[in-house]
Amino acid sequence: MKVLAIETSCDETAAAVVADGRVILSNVVASQIEIHARYGGVVPEVASRQHVAWIVPVVEKALSEAEVTWHDIDLIAVTYGPGLAGSLLVGVNTAKAVAMARRLPLVGVNHLEGHVYANWLVERSVVPPDADPETIDRLLPPPRFPVLCLIVSGGHSDLVLIEDHGVYRALGHTRDDAAGEAFDKVARILGLGYPGGPAIQLAAAEGQPEAFPVPRAWLKDTFDFSFSGVKTAMLRLANECRAAEKVPLEGEGENEVAGAEDHGVWRRCTADLAASFQESVVDVLTGKTVDAAGKYAVKEILLAGGVAANKRLREVMVARSPIPVRFARPSLCTDNAAMIASAGYFHFQRGQTSSLDLDVCPNLRLVA
Ligand code: KG4
Ligand code: ZN
Repeated sequence: MKVLAIETSCDETAAAVVADGRVILSNVVASQIEIHARYGGVVPEVASRQHVAWIVPVVEKALSEAEVTWHDIDLIAVTYGPGLAGSLLVGVNTAKAVAMARRLPLVGVNHLEGHVYANWLVERSVVPPDADPETIDRLLPPPRFPVLCLIVSGGHSDLVLIEDHGVYRALGHTRDDAAGEAFDKVARILGLGYPGGPAIQLAAAEGQPEAFPVPRAWLKDTFDFSFSGVKTAMLRLANECRAAEKVPLEGEGENEVAGAEDHGVWRRCTADLAASFQESVVDVLTGKTVDAAGKYAVKEILLAGGVAANKRLREVMVARSPIPVRFARPSLCTDNAAMIASAGYFHFQRGQTSSLDLDVCPNLRLVA
C-alpha cells in the first residue's frame, strides 16, 4: 500500500510517498528556514504564503521521485495539528482536494504522532526489491511495544508510554518552554542565529561542557520538564562573560550579542556556554527518560522530534540506557512528510480514516 503524505504544520512544505508504512519511496522537504532566519523565528503569515506557493510542486516532486503516478497511490495522509493554523490549512485543503478528486481515503495525522513514527521508517536502498511487509519487518525489525518515546521538538517536550499502535499514555511534559524552544532562545542570547539547535550543537563541539555551572531543573518525583530557568541562567552567564571580556553589545535585541563574533575571547566563551547549556538539557532529558523506562519496564526507548537530531543527546541516551535506544537519521527527526505517511498507514490499518470535512486543529494533543 502506497501512502502520499503532506506536512505543512510549521515552516517546512513537505510531501512524501511511503510503502506499507515503512519504506521511503520519496521524501521532499522545501525548507523556509532562510526566509524566516532574518526575523529570528517563524513568521506565521509568511509561512502560510510560502506553503501556498510551494505545495503543488512539492507534491509533484514527491510523486516523480517515488517513480509513481496518482494511480499508484492508495491513501492520503495529512498533518491536521498541532501547528500554525494558516500553515496547517494549506496542507489539509490540498489533501482533501486530492482525496476528493482521486476518490482516495484520507487520514488526518497528529504531527507529534508523526514524529514518533519516524522510527518505523527505512530507506528504500536497504530493502530487497519486491520484499513483502513481513519480510521487511523480519530483516529490519520495527520498535517492539511497549516503548517509551521522548518527543522533543520546537513546541513540545513529552515523555510518552506507547503500549501499542495508537495507545498512548502521557508520563510527563514541559511545564514551560519546550526543549527546542530553549535551544532556539539560548542560541539567540549567544548570537548564534536561527534555528538554534544545530547552531548550539556546532558551537558546543568546540567548548567544555563543565565550563559553566548551568542549573538542572530535576523537578523531583515527576517526569515533567522545565527549561525556562536554564534559559534565564544562560542570559545571566552570557552577560557576565560579556562584561568580563568587555565585549560590546552590538545586536538589535537587548538580549543579543550578534556582531560580537569577531571577538576571539567571546567566541571561546560562546563555545563553552553552548556546551554547558547543551549538557544541562541533555542531562535532564536522558536522566528522566532512563528512569521512566525502568519504572514502566519498556522494551525500547525512542527519540523523536527535531531535538532528537542532537548528537550529544543521542550519545548520552545510548550510554546511559540499559535497553536499546532507537532514533531516526537527523533529517527524519526534523519535520518531514514521510513520518506522517507512516503514522497515517497504521491508522488506516486500524480502520481509522477521516471524512472530507476534516478541519485543522492547531492545539491538537497526542493524549487527551
Ligand atoms: O520537530 P521540529 O523540526 O519542528 C517542530 O515540530 O517544532 O523541531 C524543531 C526544533 C527547533 O527548536 C530546533 O532548534 C531543534 O528542533 N533542533 C535541534 C537540532 N536540530 C533541530 N535541537 C538540538 N540539536 C539539534 N541538532
Ligand atoms: Zn515537528
